Amino acid sequence: MEIKILKSYKELSSTVADIVETQIKEHPLTKLGLPTGSTPFGMYEEIVNRKLDWSLVITFNLDVYLMNVNHPESYQNYMRKNLFDRTNIFPDHSHFPFRPFSAFEDKIEGSMGIDLCILGIGTNGHIAFNEPGSSFKTRTRVVNLSEQTIEDNSRFFGSVDDTPKQAITMGLETIMESKKIVLMANGDHKLNILNMAMNGEVTEDVPASVLQNHDNVEVFYCD
Ligand code: GLP
Repeated sequence: MEIKILKSYKELSSTVADIVETQIKEHPLTKLGLPTGSTPFGMYEEIVNRKLDWSLVITFNLDVYLMNVNHPESYQNYMRKNLFDRTNIFPDHSHFPFRPFSAFEDKIEGSMGIDLCILGIGTNGHIAFNEPGSSFKTRTRVVNLSEQTIEDNSRFFGSVDDTPKQAITMGLETIMESKKIVLMANGDHKLNILNMAMNGEVTEDVPASVLQNHDNVEVFYCD
């Protein structure tokens, strides 16, 4: 698979923002799958500054920690701060994985599926919170985070002890049903796993490698 190399984080952010902007302008009733993490910060900033009309857009976040949703580092707060409170999206139109998970899946399916899903990638090759070893057939569920992910994400929580150990994530099969997928990765420390995922063996040991089985994926990287 082609990995499009961009010159800077700014260019990575604006390139993905362009794709989101085009999608929303051409299809105001768009359903988006949305990521969190540090990589998309710039992309959200770009999108907000473009003052798009979000009144008909529906969003599905990929994952949430199993934790108090009022914690400053909850993904619900992240999304409010970085996107939702800064657009005219209707509160009822933004969804996070919820129980029963079959109802969350039904909500996606009932809205005719995700048109555009934006992904990051973890240093161990996870997408959303589908850790190495996740079956390609997985759907929304509770997962235990890997030691690597807990360590990586402890930078947001101050210590490993204070970092959530479990999450709810869309499954790999759920993500793969998106009509179009864009994966963004930033930093030298992601290059090796990105290459393995896009051009190595398709294996459940590298969850992002499942994307090789999708026919509408774009991958962007900057160091
Ligand atoms: C997090 C998120 C993922 C994200 C990934 C990379 O744990 N659950 O959705 O893509 O890990 O995060 P970052 O962009 O901070 O490197």
